[in-house]
Amino acid sequence: MAQIFHPSTNTISRVSIYGAVFIIALGGYVAYRVNQASYFTDINEARQQPVPFSHKHHAAELGIDCRYCHTSVETSSFAGIPPTHTCMSCHSQIWVKSEMLEPVRESYATDKSIEWVRVNAVPDFVYFDHSIHVNKGIGCTTCHGPIGEMPITWRAHTLYMRWCIDCHKHPERYVRRREDVFKASYAPPSDQLALGRKLVKEYHIKSPREITDCYTCHR
Ligand code: HEC
Ligand code: HEC
Ligand code: HEC
Ligand code: HEC
Ligand code: HEC
Repeated sequence: MAQIFHPSTNTISRVSIYGAVFIIALGGYVAYRVNQASYFTDINEARQQPVPFSHKHHAAELGIDCRYCHTSVETSSFAGIPPTHTCMSCHSQIWVKSEMLEPVRESYATDKSIEWVRVNAVPDFVYFDHSIHVNKGIGCTTCHGPIGEMPITWRAHTLYMRWCIDCHKHPERYVRRREDVFKASYAPPSDQLALGRKLVKEYHIKSPREITDCYTCHR
């Protein structure tokens, strides 16, 4: 096929596309930061919740799988927060008199959701998807910290752009076997780099060049 555009047009359009992404993202970012200024100061600090729900207790000690409560984490962009009836499947029978569980019983009786306080979030102009990470061997605790040790949930990482990109450049440092993805506690093996390089091939993880492109996360 005849070449319609001079090759330099490519460069020009790429520069202007990236320029547009940059301006849209920057505008969104300023608005976001202004809106949520106080929200961003609290990495590694537990958030006050309407019910003192403990991952340490439920996920690590009782061994309930993440997917029992975060049902869509493997199949959609959102992990999902469990509805009250998930709690009541146990708490209608056990700990039924607990005062701490009063808001759970009330939510169930009135059919009004518990208003959990959000712990992790990225701005609206960032595209994030749980299912792709989970299916390619990135474990929950890599991004969310030692969730099995949290009596109250806190945010373990900034979730800033350079944090995302650090892994998109070097996934071999973090990737684990799929069967280990949902573990509430996990320590990488001493031969992580060898395992990581092997899994990057086995799971067909895209090249750093592809997944550091602006359009991966800003679409
Ligand atoms: C018995 C139900 C249950 C199980 C099992 C469970 N969670 Fe949760 N999870 C919750 C509830 C309820 C919340 C909301 C309250 C909070 O943030 O602690 C939550 C919140 C979270 C959050 C923070 C959400 C936000 O607002 O950013 C993360 C991260 C999380 N869970 C990860 C996990 C991981 C990883 C596992 C498995 C190792 C797991 N959870 C197992 C019920 C559960
Ligand atoms: C698979 C069963 C199961 C599910 C599902 C479950 N829990 Fe529990 N939960 C327990 C058990 C067992 C205990 C208490 C055991 C103990 O302290 O020894 C407990 C304890 C608690 C306590 C502490 C109560 C107290 O007075 O010490 C709270 C709060 C709680 N759960 C909240 C929740 C919430 C909120 C949900 C839903 C997101 C939930 N649980 C889902 C089994 C469950
Ligand atoms: C690659 C990093 C990464 C991995 C791996 C990851 N998460 Fe998340 N998680 C995030 C980010 C980023 C957010 C904020 C998303 C947003 O604002 O849209 C989040 C938000 C959440 C939330 C809040 C509700 C929601 O869906 O936004 C829950 C619950 C959660 N994660 C649970 C899990 C569980 C369970 C796993 C493992 C099965 C897991 N996450 C694996 C980065 C990750
Ligand atoms: C610990 C490693 C890790 C972290 C941290 C991480 N990612 Fe990823 N991400 C991956 C891997 C691995 C893939 C899979 C690439 C593939 O499709 O083969 C991926 C894929 C993606 C994809 C889909 C890319 C595509 O086109 O297939 C998006 C979107 C994405 N990540 C966004 C984010 C954002 C936004 C953050 C930060 C909030 C983030 N990621 C943090 C490892 C990570
Ligand atoms: C792997 C995901 C990812 C990729 C690739 C990515 N970004 Fe981002 N970007 C983010 C996240 C997450 C934020 C929000 C950070 C925060 O909350 O402060 C962000 C924020 C921004 C901001 C707001 C200011 C800032 O630095 O926080 C700009 C501007 C931006 N990105 C431009 C770009 C451009 C241009 C590219 C391509 C060279 C790019 N991004 C590639 C994830 C990504």
